[in-house]
Amino acid sequence: MKYGKIIGTGKYLPKRILTNIDLEQIIDTTDDWIYSRTGIKERRIADDETCYDLAILAAKDALKASELDPENIDLIIVATMTAEYATPAISCLVQKAIGAKNALAFDLSAACSGFVFAIHTANQFIMNGTFNNALIIGSEKLSNIINWEDRNTCVLFGDGAGAVVVEASEEQGIIETICRSVGEDYACLTAGIKRIKTPFKNVNIEQDFIEMEGREVFEFACTKVPQCIEEVLEKAKLEKSDIDYYILHQANTRIISKVAKKLSEPLDKFYTNMEFYGNTSSASIGIALDEMVKAGKLKNKKVILAGFGAGLTYGASIIQF
Ligand code: ACO
Repeated sequence: MKYGKIIGTGKYLPKRILTNIDLEQIIDTTDDWIYSRTGIKERRIADDETCYDLAILAAKDALKASELDPENIDLIIVATMTAEYATPAISCLVQKAIGAKNALAFDLSAACSGFVFAIHTANQFIMNGTFNNALIIGSEKLSNIINWEDRNTCVLFGDGAGAVVVEASEEQGIIETICRSVGEDYACLTAGIKRIKTPFKNVNIEQDFIEMEGREVFEFACTKVPQCIEEVLEKAKLEKSDIDYYILHQANTRIISKVAKKLSEPLDKFYTNMEFYGNTSSASIGIALDEMVKAGKLKNKKVILAGFGAGLTYGASIIQF
């Protein structure tokens, strides 16, 4: 049997930097509140670029690293919650832009767990022999769906995209993955609810922006992520001591500290970059992975990726580099 193995990573971050000090001019907040509660100092904001532009640029970066010919790509999955189109899937726009004319392309909606869900999905296709490789992208233009008057949410998010290319291999690259959904808690985090007026029903739009019960999501992440990591390790018959790094979805440094404590693992095994990018939802794990790969930190290392977010959803994946 073949397994998925990551053979290239990439990212794209928009040029505009919005700092906490800049936000102090827009809403009633302070750099101190944001940094001490979240670990975020600044985030990137896409001006003219669309969500699919970000996806295309990250995809090109990952493809270059993988040295794969676009015509040989079998599968493209874009994980996103901020696509400009309800249809077509923005993965089809990526397909066109990179010339991957033989690929199957679809989008995946699992918010901040999207990258791990996409890795899991692609790996199933590779393990069952359907496809030989896959291009996975997490891309978000969250600035489009933020209520810039709501200080509870607008300070948290940023724009960006991360990508990986996965190829079938005799070596076990993607060792094990667990993905879960908790639909009964869906109302904790929603965005883009549209109740549209039709000739048959007269309703107003009630909510367009991200709305989040921050404390509930915080507790959910601090409970489910360590449980999921323990579970995926057990499934893979590995110990925490086998793991070199943890790359968690970059939402809040306090969540990462709590997860580290619950796992009794040292904090320096947990990569963080939300200081510079904020919460980029499905893009955050791909961006972090690319930074670590390009800094030469992941050669022959075992890494656990873990996502959590709207749905509610969560998941963890063990990867051998
Ligand atoms: N500046 C100043 N004060 C603020 C701000 C701000 N930007 N935002 C909120 N406050 C105030 C609140 O109004 C509240 O004031 P009150 O006590 O007078 O009512 C106070 O600060 C405390 O607010 P809390 O919401 O309790 O703050 P908390 O410590 O819980 O931090 C946060 C909020 C950062 C959102 C945290 O709950 C969190 O990180 N939650 C998890 C988010 C997450 O991981 N999301 C998942 C992924 S996102 C996705 O899937 C799209």
